[in-house]
Amino acid sequence: MLVATPEVGRRRFIVSGLASAGALLLPHSVHAQQNVVPTPRQTAGPFYPVRFPEDVDNDLVVVRGAQARASGVVTHVMGRVLGTDGKPVPNATVEIWQCDAHGRYLHPADTGKRPRDTAFQGYGRMTARADGSYSFRTIRPVAYPGRTPHIHFAVRTPGGRQLVTQMYVAGEPLNTGDSLYASIRDPRQREAVTVALAPANGIEPGALAGTFDILLPT
Ligand SMILES: [Fe+2]
Repeated sequence: MLVATPEVGRRRFIVSGLASAGALLLPHSVHAQQNVVPTPRQTAGPFYPVRFPEDVDNDLVVVRGAQARASGVVTHVMGRVLGTDGKPVPNATVEIWQCDAHGRYLHPADTGKRPRDTAFQGYGRMTARADGSYSFRTIRPVAYPGRTPHIHFAVRTPGGRQLVTQMYVAGEPLNTGDSLYASIRDPRQREAVTVALAPANGIEPGALAGTFDILLPT
């Protein structure tokens, strides 16, 4: 039985808000027509969690049971998992991980000097819905030494297809000097992982939102 705690209520609000905002921002038919470039594969990097946090839901801004909210600009990232035919791929597992607002990952190999933001979940996952849609509430990614801001993604379908990639922020001045970003030679593929973030009107005051559709390579 679902207990109507404030936590559950808040999450319901987020999900319903995302669904309506996603429909307003970019109709699904537009996605399918404009975005026919497969999402490029990228390295998972050294900071995929070796141990998952206790809370692994799709809201990385709040760790379950904690009062504190993560530092940084709250950012809603949403999109759909699609085939290159533009058709939704249902029920894929979508994982994201990224550094906190101080540039620290939830990983023992990250030996950065600044303290880790323990209010930031660092990693989250969800199962995409029947229409392929997914959504995360996280923070706007920040730069850390040697890297432009990015969010790591890993997608695994029930049929066993997998994609690991990274999402970048449109207009970030550090993008051009980032070797991993530059390693995507095809400008259309680079565009496919570059997401414009805009005020999350109708979703959450003061937050940002962006749409990242993931087109699984065949
Ligand atoms: Fe990274």
